[in-house]
Amino acid sequence: MKIVETPLEMQEWALKKRGQGEKIALVPTMGALHEGHLSLLKEGKRLADHLVLSIFVNPLQFAPDEDFKEYPRNLDADLKKAESCHVDIVFYPKAKDLYPKDFQISVAVDILSQFLCGQRRPEHFKGVVTVVLKLFNIVQPHVALFGQKDYQQLRIVQQMVQDLNLPIQIKPMPIVREDDGLAISSRNRYLSPAERQAALSISLSLAKAQRLVDEGTENVEAILKAVSATLYETKKVKIDYITLCDPKSLESLSHLKLPALLAIACFIGTTRLIDNCILR
Ligand code: PAF
Repeated sequence: MKIVETPLEMQEWALKKRGQGEKIALVPTMGALHEGHLSLLKEGKRLADHLVLSIFVNPLQFAPDEDFKEYPRNLDADLKKAESCHVDIVFYPKAKDLYPKDFQISVAVDILSQFLCGQRRPEHFKGVVTVVLKLFNIVQPHVALFGQKDYQQLRIVQQMVQDLNLPIQIKPMPIVREDDGLAISSRNRYLSPAERQAALSISLSLAKAQRLVDEGTENVEAILKAVSATLYETKKVKIDYITLCDPKSLESLSHLKLPALLAIACFIGTTRLIDNCILR
């Protein structure tokens, strides 16, 4: 496994491999690798001749009051995990190389960023897709893998690939959960034991919604009410949003139309967690 730090070296390697007709898979991450990332890496290895993992905590996608400084960074542990998944190249760029002083061009997202997390984090997705486009240009992947836990991110990346005619296959990957249902996230490590226990109400509330749909409930209000009641049962959860929306446009549904995306963001203490499921 090789570590490459400069965009130029990474791009030269990628263009050479492409020229030789070899296939490249990219798993873009901000490090702090967990089982969710490892599932992407294992699938990436299966899909291509070369597997590239990028690790870069992207300052552009954090607002000034967010956890950019505190975001967990542990390169040594990440490298061990990467090695165990047979990563070929770890691309580990420096911020000054991705964003030189005169950096000024970014990708704007018109509609998809107005919903869900975009309401609270208005500049977030612009930062995400700008760095993702840069990573695509540098790593030149044939396929890139994204987890469905960050569903809105996945949808916006898919839309960028479509709208900007990028010759890249986006492979969505299922949410990986702990045995008790908690969606795995780098931010789970911020939770105290009591908060972690409270966080279980998130996956429980998603399951509750699916049960209601299975039983024939079609009333969107009733589903949302049941979800918030389940979340509030623990008294430790502050809901940011609960949305039942169209999985492609992300527009809220007033009448249930399946499949529908049920997405939740909430604070447990100071930690903001997101989770979702597709109701069928
Ligand atoms: O999901 C993430 O870890 C980040 O948003 C990504 C896609 C690596 C861009 O910085």
